Amino acid sequence: MELNQIQKNKIANSAFLVTGGAGFIGSNIVEFLLKTGAGKVRVLDNLSTGFRKNIQEFESRKEFEFIEGDIRNLQHCLQACEGMDFVSHQAALGSVPRSIDDPVTTNDVNIGGHLNMLIACRDRKIKCMAYAASSSTYGDSIELPKKEDRIGKPLSPYAVTKLVNELYADVFFKTYGVKTIGLRYFNVFGPRQNPYGAYAAVVPLFMESVLNGTSPFINGDGMQTRDFTYVENAVFANILAMITENPESINQVYNIAVGEQISLNQLLEKIKEISGRQNIKAVYREARKGDVRNSLADISKATNLLGYKPSVNVTNGIKLTYEFWKSRI
Ligand SMILES: NC(=O)c1ccc[n+]([C@@H]2O[C@H](COP(=O)([O-])OP(=O)(O)OC[C@H]3O[C@@H](n4cnc5c(N)ncnc54)[C@H](O)[C@@H]3O)[C@@H](O)[C@H]2O)c1
Repeated sequence: MELNQIQKNKIANSAFLVTGGAGFIGSNIVEFLLKTGAGKVRVLDNLSTGFRKNIQEFESRKEFEFIEGDIRNLQHCLQACEGMDFVSHQAALGSVPRSIDDPVTTNDVNIGGHLNMLIACRDRKIKCMAYAASSSTYGDSIELPKKEDRIGKPLSPYAVTKLVNELYADVFFKTYGVKTIGLRYFNVFGPRQNPYGAYAAVVPLFMESVLNGTSPFINGDGMQTRDFTYVENAVFANILAMITENPESINQVYNIAVGEQISLNQLLEKIKEISGRQNIKAVYREARKGDVRNSLADISKATNLLGYKPSVNVTNGIKLTYEFWKSRI
């Protein structure tokens, strides 16, 4: 996907705050903004699950600024929004299992922090905030493909927090006129996603195992499906959402995915094929609580209202991600 000249000019003449900018998706958004010539890019991050090394290469740029701070602190949010035009709000504690182990901290960061960011956007007159919503909001609905207005009940504390984010954003638009756009990501993967720790996501875990020649674990039978989304697609969605000129696109939530459904078994096969390491065998273990069984997005709303089109499919995304991991070893 290519931005047009009007969009590029808008980016060049604007200042952007990326919360969670030292994390996986956030640092990819920062990289894109700087490459596109953004006037100013500021990151607010407390480095709890993100890393300074993810933004190290940008720190010498005069357009770039890092604030180490916490979205649970309203003053930090107000300070970070000072002088900014647009916000991409990515800071949160991800992971369904983490939220089951520690629902209080997940709630404080994901709901309290989001509320602070909405207040800061209101008080600092931010033009538009794109925020990370989640496909987990579809919960126990078994309907496929997922359409934005047909959700089920949440299956985890994490999913509750992401649903509440959408409810707060809607209320802030209706009561204070705060402009936001929620992006329901579907299993984003790509460079800089953390493969370590108890809460790592499946793509980096599989990559690590395949590269190290060890057996990856699969929770359940591996037949569960996901709409795996290469990070560049999520980055584009954030940019399009923040700078949209379409008034109808504001105060809405959108599926951000590719629209391709593959199982975890198929995902592992693809990684094995791309890496040439066909002898790797998965170890199957108990299914995880809180996980949805199948997932596939209808992305037509984002296409129609935001002009979003995924530019990297799953296979190419896996190839790009594999190259990244290989270069790190
Ligand atoms: N990766 C996915 O597949 C996926 C899917 C759906 C939604 N999301 C959402 O996308 C966003 C980004 O996820 P990610 O995968 O890049 O995760 P990540 O953990 O790599 O990034 C999150 C960043 O937020 C920062 N952060 C956490 N708590 C903070 C706090 N209290 N104050 C300031 N910064 C804080 C972390 O240090 C980290 O840099 C999150 O909101 C997540 O819930 C991700």
